[in-house]
Amino acid sequence: MDVDFFSWLGLALRWFHVMLAIMWIGASFYFVWLDLSLRPAKSKADRDKGVSGEVWAVHGGGFYHKQKYMVAPSHMPEELHWFKWESYLTFISGFLLLCLVYYFNADLYLIDKAKMVLTPLQATLTGVMFLIGGWFFYDTLCKSPLGDNVKVFSVLWAGALVAACYALCQIFTGRGAFIHVGAMIGTAMTANVFAIIIPNQKKVVKALLAGDKPDAKYGKIAKQRSMHNNYMTLPVLLIMLSNHYPVLYSGSYNWAILSGLGLASWPFRHFFNLKDRGITNYWYAAAGIAGYIFVMLAASGLFTPEKPVEVAQAVSAAEVRQIVRTHCSACHSDTPVHAGIAIAPKGVMFDTMDEIKQNAPRIIEQAVKNDTMPLGNETGMTDDDRKKLGAGLEALEKSGKQP
Ligand code: HEC
Repeated sequence: MDVDFFSWLGLALRWFHVMLAIMWIGASFYFVWLDLSLRPAKSKADRDKGVSGEVWAVHGGGFYHKQKYMVAPSHMPEELHWFKWESYLTFISGFLLLCLVYYFNADLYLIDKAKMVLTPLQATLTGVMFLIGGWFFYDTLCKSPLGDNVKVFSVLWAGALVAACYALCQIFTGRGAFIHVGAMIGTAMTANVFAIIIPNQKKVVKALLAGDKPDAKYGKIAKQRSMHNNYMTLPVLLIMLSNHYPVLYSGSYNWAILSGLGLASWPFRHFFNLKDRGITNYWYAAAGIAGYIFVMLAASGLFTPEKPVEVAQAVSAAEVRQIVRTHCSACHSDTPVHAGIAIAPKGVMFDTMDEIKQNAPRIIEQAVKNDTMPLGNETGMTDDDRKKLGAGLEALEKSGKQP
């Protein structure tokens, strides 16, 4: 029996991570919706009790009547639900996954020797420093007087993230850089819950238990951080999915593509938040969609006039086979010989000409249109090799179609 333990462990962690992220972000989006949907309490008795807003909702076969006490009710309720483990466990499982995929396999997934020659330890430390540095920058900015000005704050924090994204893309592989931008934002989001929101809520509870009136500032700070988390969610989700789209993370403008999409998500999120508050402004939604389309066109060559690709001579099937053997077969084979690769990655193998033909569109996607493969370009595949491979595969396809 041969158990591919790391794959199974990775699967379990990923499954757990996605489930917890849904629980965390689901609850967090729900509470933002709830907060924005609250309307002033109708009954005077409720208002006198300290109810600042209320909303009725129907779900799961019953009606819910939610009331928000700002800052807190006059007495501590007997039972109080907290929301924190969803966030902590999302972070913990995410960090373990980062270690398992990117730090233990730094040579494969993180280090790109054409960008920077690092040892796995140096790469790991660099990555972790970005996560910690991001939080310190963000937290200091929030606590500074600039943090109270939403516009100035948003511009500075978005600017810092774009700068970090640019820097990371110059250091790591595209995928490695993207996952670190995502982890930086995710770390700030969980640290918001762990270091700010929950401690502030505990201060309010402590004051209540002592029979004092809690200071309104604690609720306000927690609210600010939780709104930040709300806007940071969409870029993080995008990054977690970006893995499936080499067009995003390979190429030298990957940082600009990610930054553009991240920025475009802001008006989109804002549209929904305004809507919950009862204001429908389609311009925000349109701005988000226009941003997305702009990035799509820019990434597809809007600013780079297309040069006709000229391949001097026809590329033969034997040459295609040779290029694949040189640059791909160490990993993509029934019997891989590359260290750390026990079975053909994603079941993709190129041992026979039939397998190469069958996988032609995927090969073009990974190694001709983008330079995602070979991983970290460790075989030193040149642009010329890529053009030849593309031309050869195309010729094969054409000849295959002829009777
Ligand atoms: C150093 C090992 C290595 C080399 C060399 C390599 N690959 Fe890969 N390849 C991988 C790994 C690992 C994955 C799985 C990536 C992941 O987990 O998303 C992969 C995935 C793929 C996929 C599937 C992508 C998907 O998500 O559907 C294709 C197609 C592919 N490689 C093509 C190639 C081609 C073409 C070459 C040669 C030009 C090549 N690879 C060279 C390791 C390698």
